[in-house]
Amino acid sequence: MDLRIKSFEEYQAKYKQSVDQPEQFWSEVADHYQWQSPWGQVLDWNFKEPNVKWFLNAKLNITENCLDRHVETRGDQTAILWESNFPDRDNIRLSYTQLHAEVCRAANALKSMGVKKGDRICLYMPMIPELAISVLACARIGAIHSVVFAGFSAQALADRINDATCNVVITSDGLYRGAKQVGLKSIVDEALQQCDSIEHVLVKKCTGEDIGWSEGRDQWWDDIVPQQSATCAAEVMDSEDPLFILYTSGSTGKPKGVVHTCGGYMVYAGYSFANVFQYEEGDIYWCTADIGWITGHSYIIYGPLLNGATTMMFEGVPTWPDAGRFWQIVEKHKVNQFYTAPTAIRALMSCGNDVVTPYDLSSLKVLGTVGEPINQEAWDWYKQMIGKGTVPIVDTWWQTETGGIMISGLGGHSPQQATFAGYPLPGIQPCLVDTEGNEITENGVEGLLCMKFPWPSILRTTYGDHERCRITYFSHYNDMYFTGDGARRDENGMYRIIGRVDDVINVSGHRFGTAEIENAINESEYVVESAVVGYPHDIKGQGIYAYVIQEKAPDDLEAAKKEIIATVVKEIGPIAKPDKIQFVSGLPKTRSGKIMRRILRKVAEGEPDKLGDTSTLLDPSVVDEIVGGAV
Ligand code: WT7
Repeated sequence: MDLRIKSFEEYQAKYKQSVDQPEQFWSEVADHYQWQSPWGQVLDWNFKEPNVKWFLNAKLNITENCLDRHVETRGDQTAILWESNFPDRDNIRLSYTQLHAEVCRAANALKSMGVKKGDRICLYMPMIPELAISVLACARIGAIHSVVFAGFSAQALADRINDATCNVVITSDGLYRGAKQVGLKSIVDEALQQCDSIEHVLVKKCTGEDIGWSEGRDQWWDDIVPQQSATCAAEVMDSEDPLFILYTSGSTGKPKGVVHTCGGYMVYAGYSFANVFQYEEGDIYWCTADIGWITGHSYIIYGPLLNGATTMMFEGVPTWPDAGRFWQIVEKHKVNQFYTAPTAIRALMSCGNDVVTPYDLSSLKVLGTVGEPINQEAWDWYKQMIGKGTVPIVDTWWQTETGGIMISGLGGHSPQQATFAGYPLPGIQPCLVDTEGNEITENGVEGLLCMKFPWPSILRTTYGDHERCRITYFSHYNDMYFTGDGARRDENGMYRIIGRVDDVINVSGHRFGTAEIENAINESEYVVESAVVGYPHDIKGQGIYAYVIQEKAPDDLEAAKKEIIATVVKEIGPIAKPDKIQFVSGLPKTRSGKIMRRILRKVAEGEPDKLGDTSTLLDPSVVDEIVGGAV
């Protein structure tokens, strides 16, 4: 299937068509896929409830589009190319024929455990081929996968398992990540003490470490999967049946389970992959994300496989055994499209050019970035040092909720401007609104980024709580989807994403609600209250700055900090560790008891002279203490 737009003129024409006749546009795109039976209506929607349905009543299975179709035409081509954490270990190549067989075996194993269509399966796994196989095995039989990033703590894992009432967990004994080894199975065991719904735990051997075992509940992958039949009929799925749940943080409460459905997600993941990366037959494509995030779902697994691509999966980290690891892999596998995050680019940039220059990067055709705004310096380095000044950069803006890339260049076919994501993909109708929700139609302006019209992979609900979905995304501005981001649109209509305007912070491309981290900190027995804000961080984009009121004035500040950090690691995971902790005796609250975060942000940003009006504070004197004690 060739879905690719091949020039900017073609993009402009397609874009116009997609806005003038969206249903016709999307049904032409959807015709490129294999459906078991066709749709009637293309789209039914309102953003009030919200209720969005695409390709109504069509039947399909996404794995037939990711696998079976390619087995017939390119069975021997590598589907997944896996690179180990250890540079000297052999890589693994799974052809489309082999991947199809492995997915069917895993699907049959799940069936033998009693898994049925609609059941929720939690995947808490390393970046090994079995993770991709498990994702596809769930999809094969209509089970809903919920992948939890294997850096989350037992508590965070338990919360996600319970929210979705999963009945199976797939995990491994442990994982390797750079020089570290993490015992995943023991984290699962700890989590499951709080989870009643789990009946089976399927364990893939990875590190070979000793693990605990619960007879009757736990089974080795290698004992039950390999012996299964290599064929498994694909479950008939309705277009609007859920495909997966993926948890993400918002400005309030616990993380929400974003729900994506089979038909629309498939159409958009495949379409956006083909166009943004301009993948050509035979190319080697590499996205460095973890499958625990939406980027890995859409652009390691589904998008590439829908297009019959060779997609690389990397178990390790960019800086181990040294900071040349990414570039060494690019040279080794002659990677053509490379997709990573600004935080990785900045971290590698800070290691100097000597770790880049030894490697031949001439295979690169497209460089991608995702997850947070990319600063000018990082963009320039990526363009010059990695792209040698000639390789196009696609800065791809999107979200867990959008399912696929929304605003981005299309390979080299779009005008490029450093730090700008650029133009919306066909079918995507962004707009900027002011704080009252009035659309700002002129160019050369800043505003709140909304979407006026649905696209096929828009989230359908938040699992188990549709009202929360409505309130979070559809209640702020009339009849629009609100992204939570602020953006600038330049004179030419190109978009530049400024960042979150809500209480969400983005740390190394990982999304946290400030309330979520505060709740974790408050679990510490010595803490009375806390307030968390983001501040600019050279490598991570944003760092976490926590203001903490202790139970009693601490004697040993370092010990108190350690205890707070340990609590956050226990409640969420190491990725949410505060970078800075400042002990305070009070927080700047208004008379109505609301914390004035603006003040805390300014202090954390190192701009205490720009606090603005503090006259409405209940006790303005706390401000002096906070400014004086800034860390
Ligand atoms: C938030 C979504 C979608 C993949 C990874 C993150 C920020 C994402 C960009 C970009 C500026 C970006 C936004 C967005 N973001 N991509 N290219 N430029 N900001 O997914 O965890 O759902 O986070 O990440 O703030 O709202 P996510």
